[in-house]
Amino acid sequence: MARLPTLTPITSSWMHELMDERRVLNQLLEKHGSPINIHQTDLMQKNFELYLRVFEEEGLKNKLFFARKANKTKGVVRKAHALGMGIDTASYREYMQCLEMGIPASDLIVTAAVKNRELIEKVIKNGSLLVLDNEDECLQVQESAEELGKNANIAFRISGFIVRESKLYSRFGFDLETFGSFVDENFFNSNKFDHLIYKGLHFHLNGYSTEERSLALSQCLELSEQLSLKGFKTEFIDIGGGILMNYLKYETEWDNFSLQLRRAIINRRDPITFENQGLGLQVFGGSLLGELKTYPFWNYLFKGDFLRKILYHKNSSGITLAQHAKSLGVEIRMEPGRSMLDQVGLTVSRVAFRKKDSRGDWLVGLEMNMTQMLSGSADFMLDPFVLYQNEDAEGEAAEVYFTGAYCLERDVLLKRKIALQKLPQVGDLVIFVNTAGYMMHFFESSAHLFPLATNLIWNRSIENSKIDLAHFQNDDNH
Ligand SMILES: Cc1ncc(COP(=O)(O)O)c(C=O)c1O
Repeated sequence: MARLPTLTPITSSWMHELMDERRVLNQLLEKHGSPINIHQTDLMQKNFELYLRVFEEEGLKNKLFFARKANKTKGVVRKAHALGMGIDTASYREYMQCLEMGIPASDLIVTAAVKNRELIEKVIKNGSLLVLDNEDECLQVQESAEELGKNANIAFRISGFIVRESKLYSRFGFDLETFGSFVDENFFNSNKFDHLIYKGLHFHLNGYSTEERSLALSQCLELSEQLSLKGFKTEFIDIGGGILMNYLKYETEWDNFSLQLRRAIINRRDPITFENQGLGLQVFGGSLLGELKTYPFWNYLFKGDFLRKILYHKNSSGITLAQHAKSLGVEIRMEPGRSMLDQVGLTVSRVAFRKKDSRGDWLVGLEMNMTQMLSGSADFMLDPFVLYQNEDAEGEAAEVYFTGAYCLERDVLLKRKIALQKLPQVGDLVIFVNTAGYMMHFFESSAHLFPLATNLIWNRSIENSKIDLAHFQNDDNH
């Protein structure tokens, strides 16, 4: 059998320190059940500073908002705010919790895709910024503001940017092409929305193209100039999130994986994924079609450099977007979620059973389910770590799929077959690293009445080098 491709994750020293403390991990699982999510928030500072440095290089006014939808724990929100970030909230509970944590309303923005009356009223009363998506939202905000006898701070979400002569589709936002006439009619030539106080423009793009983000920013800067001629001062343009991060150590492994997957699905080698799934690739009429539909787990341009590429793009007048924004006095905002959580979390699970399926493949059943570590893309592509309770026990190398507790054939935690130095035993631990961004919470559910996983914050500031149970604080946010 050909060797399985490996995908070695980038890890941090705290992860290895913890993995060296099997005793503590066992105690934590004993106490909280399996799986547990462990967060160590120190590295958020480094992630934040990478962005800050880019803005400071240009002396560009900026404000960063942590998109808390990427992870529900209060601990990461608290850390983001302590670093000086605002918080981007996407629901009533996300918003209210931030207020309850003592985060000032002026540091909160609301980009929720659906804003009910309760949320709108709370935000208006507190004076936070609402990012509006459509005319109905404008009407509801106007109505609530009138009733409350207050004004509402608003930004408009814009979409439909022109890239290479075609329009970028998004279900979100006001279409750029018709936005001018919308504001003329409803704001400049009417009092219809006189309780809405315009502050700025916003976009968030699907995918990870710097070119598309540059062109969107450039078109928003032009729009802000047109609006200012009519009397609307744009204080900021918010470029949203979707800033890439890099999960993998080696480009060569990523390339090899891609090659081996192609070979496997045209039957040139044995399968490397469950049921020989193509993860977006497929064979049709003997040809290989489609593309890998996973997050680009290895990439060379990420975080600060990704942002730099957007801001240093030159517009048609030959000046960079950073210079353009500066000359207009416009603050640039952004809402990173995933990339702020790079190296911040891991998920620990316990082996429940091992068995061979009817194809002869090893399945390692874990005490967790697919929603407790589910990627929005076709798979999560990082090799996990296995902590053997008895390291000295003999065992043969094994190739396995990790399976979960839901009654679905597709509850396979990683679609990739993983090569292990030996088959785990019942009770051994499997650790998935770098799961804090979206993997832990975004899709989690409690079908079969399984409880949701416990989220722990590993508090390193406690003066004691020995890792102890008492350092792990339950975030308790179900
Ligand atoms: C409006 C908005 N802002 C920010 C983000 C965060 O994006 P990311 O976590 O990719 O940085 C999202 C993600 O969906 C979003 O919808």
